[in-house]
Amino acid sequence: MSSGLLSPKWTMPLARAPASRLGGLFFKRTQTWNEAVPIRNAVEGRSEQLVAPEDANQWQQYWGESYGPELKQWMLAPVFDRLEAEGKIGDLIIDVGSGALPVTGILKPTPARKRICVDIASDNVASGDTLGVRLDAEKAGQLEDLSFRKVLLRACAFLEINPRTEIQTELADTMVFSEVLNYVDFRKVLQGFSNFLKPGGRMIVINLPFRGNRSLFSERGLKDNRQLYAFLEELDFETEFKAFPKKPPQEADESEEFIVLVAKKNSRTSISARPGIGPASTPP
Ligand SMILES: C[S@@+](CC[C@H](N)C(=O)[O-])C[C@H]1O[C@@H](n2cnc3c(N)ncnc32)[C@H](O)[C@@H]1O
Repeated sequence: MSSGLLSPKWTMPLARAPASRLGGLFFKRTQTWNEAVPIRNAVEGRSEQLVAPEDANQWQQYWGESYGPELKQWMLAPVFDRLEAEGKIGDLIIDVGSGALPVTGILKPTPARKRICVDIASDNVASGDTLGVRLDAEKAGQLEDLSFRKVLLRACAFLEINPRTEIQTELADTMVFSEVLNYVDFRKVLQGFSNFLKPGGRMIVINLPFRGNRSLFSERGLKDNRQLYAFLEELDFETEFKAFPKKPPQEADESEEFIVLVAKKNSRTSISARPGIGPASTPP
């Protein structure tokens, strides 16, 4: 782990966290990011409403819920602020398993910044600088999968890039996985999305193994933080920062603690199978 990001500025204000910030899993969406950090939710100002398909998935009943936003803000805002101050967030952000109140709404908009919010229960709404896309995150990178190809084409249209050529150069600066890795094959998801991240770009993970709706957990979900470190290393990521803001001081074991992690994709990583779509493969 490099030390550059480990200065005291990164320390979580644990002592200031009230017990209420433990956050329930399924809060109603009366909660929004506060005035200082206004929510830029894809649901606001709908400019493009696509009809949701009939094949309702288990997550749709929870769409519109928020998942402990105060806790997320408390854990993520210092990390985002620091990366932002160092110019490390970039312009293209992908929020995976975003929910209806994406944590990337904490980030301030910039004229060049665009955000793609991916969720299996997304309402597929595009608004201003944000595109919501419905996708099973486990399908990311699977060009043979029609749902993924459609998403890729929508993303290209949103980014105003040519799906045949420019997709190979327009890769994301930052990807955020906030409390989604318990519910998916985390290796498949991280690997699938890593192909769309720029070398030098970052993945930001916030997760607590076993927190959430256990009936929806994946057998291949993240069960132990050490699995995350090992896999990111396999993918040639360097862990720049990790913190366990809810860990009691006397607890030495970090494997099942709430983690906030920032990992940088190694610049020398070669992207062997860069995605690109040719005309023959364009869905009808
Ligand atoms: C606990 S919520 C977290 C929402 C938000 N990231 C947050 O931190 O508040 C988990 C989210 O993951 C989404 N999700 C679950 N399985 C998924 C999958 N296979 N692909 C994409 N999204 C998924 C759910 O729809 C839900 O919005």
